[in-house]
Amino acid sequence: MTTSLPVGSADLHARLTAHAARLTALPPAAVFTAGRRHLRAEAAGLVLDYSRQLVDAAALEDLWALAKSAALPTALAAQAGGAIVNPTEGRAALHTALRDPATAPLLVNGVDVRADIAHTRAQCRAFVAAVHGGQRLSATGVRFTDVINIGIGGSDLGPVMATEALRPYAVPALNVHFVSNIDGASFVDLAGRLNPATTLVIVCSKTFTTIETTTNAHRARAWLASAVGEAGAGTHFAAVSTNAAAMDAFGVPADARFTMWDWVGGRYSMWSAVGLAIELAIGSEHFEAMLAGAHTLDRHALEAPLPHNLPMLMALLSVWNGHYVGCHSHAILPYAERLHRLPAYLQQLTMESNGKHVRLDGTPVDYPTGAVLWGEAGNNGQHSFFQLLHQGTHRVTADFVVPYESPTGAVEDSILTLSNAFAQANVLARGRSLEDVLADPKVQAGGAAAAALAHHRVHPGGRPCSILGFARLDPATLGGLIALYEHRTYLESRFFGINPFDQWGVELGKVQAVALVPALETAAQSASDAWGRLRASLDHAGLN
Ligand code: F6P
Repeated sequence: MTTSLPVGSADLHARLTAHAARLTALPPAAVFTAGRRHLRAEAAGLVLDYSRQLVDAAALEDLWALAKSAALPTALAAQAGGAIVNPTEGRAALHTALRDPATAPLLVNGVDVRADIAHTRAQCRAFVAAVHGGQRLSATGVRFTDVINIGIGGSDLGPVMATEALRPYAVPALNVHFVSNIDGASFVDLAGRLNPATTLVIVCSKTFTTIETTTNAHRARAWLASAVGEAGAGTHFAAVSTNAAAMDAFGVPADARFTMWDWVGGRYSMWSAVGLAIELAIGSEHFEAMLAGAHTLDRHALEAPLPHNLPMLMALLSVWNGHYVGCHSHAILPYAERLHRLPAYLQQLTMESNGKHVRLDGTPVDYPTGAVLWGEAGNNGQHSFFQLLHQGTHRVTADFVVPYESPTGAVEDSILTLSNAFAQANVLARGRSLEDVLADPKVQAGGAAAAALAHHRVHPGGRPCSILGFARLDPATLGGLIALYEHRTYLESRFFGINPFDQWGVELGKVQAVALVPALETAAQSASDAWGRLRASLDHAGLN
């Protein structure tokens, strides 16, 4: 395709365009030949196998050149060094510092942030120890049995995803739950089965102004107060926010407030006190093992050259597929039930980051930016949307995220999981041609009737996918895995010349929702029954 990607020469783009045309025109069997096992790289216990991507040596050579012109190591160093990499909000993006044990000063606008990070980390650790150890008790003097994290977006998705993923590491006798949506269903469901007198509620919101979170926080306050009284309810709250005034106004006790900073983006924040629910669920040691795993990957991102650098490879392949091969939909397929929230987590990370239509200088892009990302735990997906992946008219790319060790510990279970993942990846890449179908002895034995169905059995193949494998889903590996996707997302944005750290596109809808509320409330008073009130309010607002 013609391009104005801000990196790479016109000649280079022309060559890459020609490679893509050549490789997509070849039968998959001619691309996915034997001898591609070297197309893999490894770091922090994660093995990226990209042998099923639509690349060959010639295409890769030009892709390395494209990566070189994007100055990826410089971009990573700038981000990790505290440069203002989010210029539309005038902010650094220092999520990497949250998992960095270094103590050398790290300046943001002239202020060293290391001490703040260490202080909040120690505060979280002490709070978790006090809840687990029974020194921090409910208003009625008993141990907390349950925790509800109230938050949304980055203040929910990371904590939910990691808590689910690391369930085998959960401490006994403390159950952690999550409430995010505004409609009240998840809150009502939890309130119906938990005991408010033994429930701790974390209000998790970088801004403390998000309507979903404040609405659920007020629901929680009323529920807690009904059990332990208004005065006692405060004892059941903790909060994570940059907004100290709002935490004051809500009555969060001084020793249960955890700060975060404007140099951590919401979708990059599970390493900060936003991860308090994770830490309560699995304990500080495991939480810190997760930070350490992420840090190992951070070092790898900064130090490993291409073609060994995992996030650079993944960013490059994403640009290759989106820009040259013409795939704009990307499926995340974890072959691990415990990673069932990974697609949702990565949706926010990648789409809120790289779903942009203007470059850093505000000029519109004339090329596709971040892909649509979606997904589902592997085998469930096989029995649902894999039909489209294999034979549909959209060419969807995929990451198979595959732990080699089964959570049951039984080798037979690992074998079943791995055989499914690898078989699906092979079929996506290699497909099955009409000739192969017709040569199948079963089809031949079926005579004319079977031959008539031959076209239905063809799998076009040529659908690029990678396998991201690792030994087991433990805290360090999860940390590395998430850090890998964070860096991949940032590095991909360098090819597009966009800002991956802002999110102006979510503001307008939020503002308009808040503005609609008074009109709906006024009209809703005019009818006596609930449905009538709802209809009247929508009619009044011109929405019905
Ligand atoms: O709606 C988008 C968003 O602004 C996300 O970027 C953020 O993670 C989420 O809302 C929640 O924001 P907060 O943590 O301030 O409540």
